[in-house]
Formats: sequence, C-alpha cells, structure tokens
Amino acid sequence: MESININISVEKHSHENELTEQDRLLLAAARISTERAYAPYSKFKVGAAVLLANGDVIQGNNQENAAYPSGLCAERVALFYASSLFPNMEIEAMAITAHSEDVSIDYPVAPCGSCRQVMTEYESKQKKDIRVILQGEKGDIYIIKCVRDLLPLAFTQEDLCL
Ligand code: THU
Repeated sequence: MESININISVEKHSHENELTEQDRLLLAAARISTERAYAPYSKFKVGAAVLLANGDVIQGNNQENAAYPSGLCAERVALFYASSLFPNMEIEAMAITAHSEDVSIDYPVAPCGSCRQVMTEYESKQKKDIRVILQGEKGDIYIIKCVRDLLPLAFTQEDLCL
C-alpha cells in the first residue's frame, strides 16, 4: 500500500489592500453582483465575477426557483454566460462572494461541488490555470492558484478518452 498526499496551498489575506488592484476590482464586481441575485428562498445571495483574457468582466449571481433544484448557482451563471458570449476566450480569474439577509458572512465563501466541476471543465479546456478569489462580506480573503486545487482527482474530458 502506498499513500498519495495531495497538498494544496491557499493564499490567505486579512485585508483587501494586500490584493492587486485587478483582484480587488474583480471581488468588487462579484460583490455588486450579489445585489442582483434572485434568492427569495435562501436569502443567501452569491455573486461571481469572471475575468476574461480580453479584460472583460462577466458577472453572475444565483437564480433560485420555486422548484428548488431548477435554480442555479452564481458561479455557473457567470461561467455559462461568459462562455456563451466568448466561447474561446481564456478565463484568467474568478471571484466569488456572498451576502445574507440573516447573518453576517465573515468567512470566505467557497464554490459548491457542482460549480467546481464546471470550473474544472473550463480550466482543463483552456489548459491554463484559473485563479479563484474568495471572500464573504468581510474577513479573510483566500486566493487559490487554480481550480484543480479545489477539485483534486477530478473527472475531466480526458477521462472520456474521446
Ligand atoms: N449557491 C451559489 O450560488 N453558489 C455556490 O457555490 C453555493 C450555493 C447558492 C445556491 C442557492 O441559491 C443558495 O446559494 C443557497 O444554497
């Protein structure tokens, strides 16, 4: 038997002024997007912002539905929208944040498993890392250098042996 250790490293920043201006602006775009989320059921408003190689920033937020599973997370709304507008444009980074009407979110909000899978698809398609920036309403900011680190041992198009 052999153990495989998978290590990931997360950059932790305790203040926004430690970020580059580009990361700060991307996080601000994600934060603005939370305000337009449609989250009448959870009241948990998530915002995402995707930075493309042409400099465009595409925002998305969660869209809920009375038939709960029909709703979609902010990250996937943003990524699908970005890919539908610019199908072959590389994605450089993605920022994710959230706002709740009930509690103050003072920890970095991480993407759910399905969103990580979709993020993995675009990263492996473009064969170039996508940086991920996470923060709540306040508190620590986490920066992860690539989506692969958020979803080790992922199932990708390569596993389909097409
Ligand atoms: N949500 C997201 O938008 N992104 C995630 O990665 C996790 C959860 C949304 C889905 C739902 O509208 C609300 O947050 C509560 O789960």
